Amino acid sequence: MVEPSLSGSKVFYRKLNRRYPRIVRGDGCYLFDDAGRRYLDAVGGAFVANLGHGTAPLAEAIAAQALRLGYINGTAFTHDPVEEFAAELAALCPGDLDLVYPLGSGSEAVEAALKLARQYWVESGQPRKRKVLSLVPGYHGNTLLALSASARPHYATYFRDWLVDVVRVPAPYAYRCPCRGRPPLCPACSGEAVEQAILREDPATVAAFIGEPVGGSSTGASVPAPEYWPRVRDACDRHGVLLVADEVLTGAGRTGTWSALEPYGVVPDLMTLGKGIAAGSVPLSALVAPRRIVDVLAHGSGGLLHAQTFSHHPVLCAAGLATLRYLREHRLVERCARMGPALHRRLATLRELPLVGDVRGRGLLAGIEFVADPVSREPLPRAAGMAEAFTAAALEAGLVVWPNVGHAGGGNGDLAMLAPPYIVTDEQIEEIVTAFTEALKVAAERIGAVR
Ligand SMILES: Cc1ncc(COP(=O)(O)O)c(C=O)c1O
Repeated sequence: MVEPSLSGSKVFYRKLNRRYPRIVRGDGCYLFDDAGRRYLDAVGGAFVANLGHGTAPLAEAIAAQALRLGYINGTAFTHDPVEEFAAELAALCPGDLDLVYPLGSGSEAVEAALKLARQYWVESGQPRKRKVLSLVPGYHGNTLLALSASARPHYATYFRDWLVDVVRVPAPYAYRCPCRGRPPLCPACSGEAVEQAILREDPATVAAFIGEPVGGSSTGASVPAPEYWPRVRDACDRHGVLLVADEVLTGAGRTGTWSALEPYGVVPDLMTLGKGIAAGSVPLSALVAPRRIVDVLAHGSGGLLHAQTFSHHPVLCAAGLATLRYLREHRLVERCARMGPALHRRLATLRELPLVGDVRGRGLLAGIEFVADPVSREPLPRAAGMAEAFTAAALEAGLVVWPNVGHAGGGNGDLAMLAPPYIVTDEQIEEIVTAFTEALKVAAERIGAVR
């Protein structure tokens, strides 16, 4: 326990009872602290630094744009970086997703997407369509509407009274589903549960369904069955519900294709992107929408009621544009698709280790779920603090991972996520597996789980 008043720092830290290593620079897949220690950033910070750290062309693009034009108000003007970023991003997005609304964070993009869905239905003459459906477990952000759509109860502890009602649908989380992801699939894993919820709620009142195409940390990179998203798309089409793909974590190539929905052959009505689209060089997110939806506003109220001071920001858009170009020029999404199987082949060996229940994911996105008993899949008691113990032991072993807790029901559940930069090498994958194994042994001892 650190006594904040003794640390001398004026920073209001995210965690008030831990001492933070002080990172002074990043280079490729590595971070370096002020004591000269090196860490392999196996999760790109928070699924963000997809190009690695210290990518010169990004820094140069940001500096050049800041000199030319640092800020301009998005309501009054347009400018080259936003025009070019939107054109290049739209070209990467599937189907008719054509218009890009740049914002700063994933939460903001989710707020904007859900507001657009609501505004669209009202302006289309269907004001009863106001309900939002989302998956549980699931995560869509920390601002109040995005938090309402998120099914991560501990994040809402003090704010429940302020949240709006969102209809929950069980997520396709095969490891913890009764069908275990094997045919015949249960309604949660087949997608039938989404249609059941739409029908139960009355389709005339449902505005949108939002989901993560491949699970983020809430379900530890669970990959839905091939039929899942086509079935959800079909149900949304038949019942007039907008399908919102939250690709804040999975987009920008993380699972080996630009959008994680691509392998399902499904085009959503709205898509949110964030995290990797500026690779962490600046905070940038985007809502991408088709003209058929935006035109309803164009012919009606004249605009999305979601103005923010820093939307359509020149420097942020220049960073996004430089990221898209860097990804293309270095064929990094293709590299992610190539390195993904290599990562998963090596991670599969972790299944032999005590406390490892499951290893899953796609592309360079992986989740390793820890359990008390791999046969019964019984979770560790939350009080044991396995995810926290593992993350701390990993850091000591020079490995940065992303923990998640609470996904297994009853507040229990511990997992660690990996999402290395797309430039990760085979040698660095070995380094990840070695450090992971070492950290697991230490963490198991610390929580007293060694048998
Ligand atoms: C799927 C998903 N949506 C939205 C968000 C919120 O993004 P941000 O933290 O940038 O607000 C996150 C963040 O982890 C996310 O994983």
